[in-house]
Amino acid sequence: MKSSEIRESFLRFFEGRGHRIVPSAPVIPHGDPTLLFTNAGMNQFKDVFLGTGKREYVRAADTQKCIRVSGKHNDLEEVGRDTYHHTFFEMLGNWSFGDYYKKEAIAWAWELLTEVWGLEKRRLYATVFETDDEAETLWKKVTDINPAHVLRFGKKDNFWEMGDTGPCGPCSEIHIDLTPDLSGEKLVNAGDPRVMEIWNLVFIQHNRTKEGRLEDLPAKHVDTGMGFERVCAVLQGKSSNYDTDVFTPIIGTIAKVTERPYEGETNQVAMRVIADHARMLSFAIADGAIPGNDGRGYVLRRILRRAARFGRNLQMRDPFIYLIPRAVADSMGKAFPEVVEKLPHIERVIKAEEESFNATLDRGLDIFETVVQRIGHSRMFPGEDAFRLYDTFGFPLDLTQLLANERGLSVDVGTFTELMEEQRTRAREAGKQEEAADVAAVVTKLGDVADSTFVGYERLETRARLTRVIDGRFISLDQTPFYAQSGGQVDDTGIIRGEHFLAEVLDSFKQDKKIIHEIRILEGHPEELTGKEVEAAVDRPRRLNIQRNHSATHLVHEALRRVLGTHLHQQGSLVAPDRLRFDFNHFERITPEEVRAIDEIVNEKIAAAIPVHALNDPKEWLTIDDARRRYPHVKMFFGDKYGDRVRIVEIDPQFSVELCGGTHVTNTQDIGLFKIVSESSIASGIRRIEAVTGDGIKRYIEEQIEKIGGLDERIAQLLDETASLEKELGRAAGAPPPRERLTFVPTVVTRGHPTPETLRILETALAEREQGLESYARAASDLRKELSRTRVQEASSGIEHLVSDATQMDGFRIVASRVAAATMDELKSLGDTLRERLGSGVGVLGSVIDGKVALVCVVTDDLIKTTPLQAGKIVGAIAKKVGGGGGGRAHLATAGGKDVAKLDGALEDIGDVVKSMLAP
Ligand code: ALA
Repeated sequence: MKSSEIRESFLRFFEGRGHRIVPSAPVIPHGDPTLLFTNAGMNQFKDVFLGTGKREYVRAADTQKCIRVSGKHNDLEEVGRDTYHHTFFEMLGNWSFGDYYKKEAIAWAWELLTEVWGLEKRRLYATVFETDDEAETLWKKVTDINPAHVLRFGKKDNFWEMGDTGPCGPCSEIHIDLTPDLSGEKLVNAGDPRVMEIWNLVFIQHNRTKEGRLEDLPAKHVDTGMGFERVCAVLQGKSSNYDTDVFTPIIGTIAKVTERPYEGETNQVAMRVIADHARMLSFAIADGAIPGNDGRGYVLRRILRRAARFGRNLQMRDPFIYLIPRAVADSMGKAFPEVVEKLPHIERVIKAEEESFNATLDRGLDIFETVVQRIGHSRMFPGEDAFRLYDTFGFPLDLTQLLANERGLSVDVGTFTELMEEQRTRAREAGKQEEAADVAAVVTKLGDVADSTFVGYERLETRARLTRVIDGRFISLDQTPFYAQSGGQVDDTGIIRGEHFLAEVLDSFKQDKKIIHEIRILEGHPEELTGKEVEAAVDRPRRLNIQRNHSATHLVHEALRRVLGTHLHQQGSLVAPDRLRFDFNHFERITPEEVRAIDEIVNEKIAAAIPVHALNDPKEWLTIDDARRRYPHVKMFFGDKYGDRVRIVEIDPQFSVELCGGTHVTNTQDIGLFKIVSESSIASGIRRIEAVTGDGIKRYIEEQIEKIGGLDERIAQLLDETASLEKELGRAAGAPPPRERLTFVPTVVTRGHPTPETLRILETALAEREQGLESYARAASDLRKELSRTRVQEASSGIEHLVSDATQMDGFRIVASRVAAATMDELKSLGDTLRERLGSGVGVLGSVIDGKVALVCVVTDDLIKTTPLQAGKIVGAIAKKVGGGGGGRAHLATAGGKDVAKLDGALEDIGDVVKSMLAP
């Protein structure tokens, strides 16, 4: 059987037994802060098990894309070294939500494996939890398994938990003995590839709380998970998952790209790792993740860097991993079209990441070798070096550990962690991580909070009953107008008031139908109001701005696609009261013309006053399939988890239809006006625009007017200066002041409703001034230079007279005079002229520049050689007399002083100064 047939036959088997076949959830879970990646088929049903959510069916089956590289379920170490663990795999599963239980689960599993797929019964083992008599009895009763093949195991093997918290219960696993002589009994649960677990039947009946307690759930459920790749290997008679048709096209592509055969331990391990990691990366990126520096993004980065390092084992130095997702898309695209749709994006993201790591990988590997030599016989790779490899060469800790393990070394993780901590403390963005922990803690407490109805689509104020207070600062209401952050839209703020009670709502969060508000108490005690009525009121102006920005986000999403291309998908967004931010995949800078075109499309849609149709009543929400049927153009933010029923927001069915839970304006004209205010790159291949609407536009306009005002002032100064420079140069002032040629900014732009015309006026005015400023500044500077030249010329001719009128002393000349210089440079240049003309002598020139004394002194070379006279010393002595100081070299020196009134007297004293220096 081909793998695609195996997948189909599983689904058809359970469909035939009353199960609804549902799509796989994305590998990036949304709305569950306890998980980085979807790690089991049951994740998407967590709320049903906890009793906080419902589906319209009680039996379901699917194939779920899973990633196990972090948290409780992490198989990374094994990947590649063995042939049956993966970071990414498909989990075939069937579920009962409070419907059938152990008996049917066991009987059907047995029937599918042995009757439908024809596995040899004598090769199968069933394990049960040590205290689960019921399961053991059922195995023996409802199947014809060899009774000796039903084995009991403890908590480690037969009690399944989703994570540190969440649904859990005893389980019964089915293992297959692939030893030729059926000698595998001792190898069950021994980590031996010859006896593998293929299917896990979990009997969910508890919830593990944050405190570690086991709570009974309201109902009992079945949650099963079968390793698809393993079952394919068994059914296709292969001893390695990588030899099945799930992997052979991928391994084949790797062999082709690297020009190496899939032979020999080194090649095989490397190719398996790369094949596995390429699948993980393809699916994670397709569902919206991006390599980055923390959280989920860092997991992707680690995986990719690990793959790149195994690429070195295949002598691959240039980026090549990005060539593998095409094979993933070819072989898996039928079952998971997202890897085909997102292929170009996946390739680009991986390639960019490979390029950046390749730059430091070899150098890091060299460093690693040096350290290994340095430590000699020690078996411990120092934490400091692991940290340096991390910090400077981008080696994730697990990569260094992998290299160390290959040499039989271990890494001093303690020191590494300390250094990381130190760095983190230095860099910590205040409070951010704590906040996340806080929310996670509250969310795990949500189990005992009653559901709230969100009424905030239509009402911003309501009376409500206060149902619960947690830790004195979190409360929930039976109905609430406060939107809890989701889909990029920020929380509402506002107030909650009751008898003797007033509190601000700081933020809100929700899980399924539970909504929790974090409050700051201004008066009273919320506990006293539990069960009583309160008033809840959203900060209206703030919310209206948020709505404008949210609807504008939908418009700009489509406008971007129309201007830049349909390859473009949303990668993230922020809808805040003051602005909106939209991230999307695109590899080029967006030109100013494109920005203008995008602005224009959005503003046209605003001007067209299009009604926004949002399904506000959850009863009207559609199934995904219906949504797709009714709205062929519907956009889905890939990677988002949509419940069974989705809400549609439609702004012109031909333009924008999105699945969205956010709040919106009722008509596009309420947005007022839209303007992109910045465009940038946030990661390779990911760009970000920021835009404003509503009050944000007012602020934007004010800022522009302020900028224009600032530029006008600068221009006015320059024009004034130009006019006075021209006057000094003895010219008539130029033609009409060019300032008047600038676009007039009518005061009307600050009044009434801004329009696209307002923005255009401002934009033109600003651009003209920016250009204008440059040319006015240039003109003024030219005039300044010209005037300076003229002054120096004039003063130079005066120097002739100074020289001929000079005092003589011991056969050399002494000149001291005031001159008209406007800058120190001018004065110096006059000093140079004087020195040239002096023949043999000492000269001092003084000016008043900007209300202060400026002096320059020159001494001719013959005197420097034959006398103690030095310009620096002379100018210093004179400067003293005007309350200043200075110095310089022997032939030319400058000085300054404060006492303008004493300048002439000081110049007269030059003879005495020179004499005293010549005195023996
Ligand atoms: N949720 C169970 C598992 O992941 C089936 O093994």
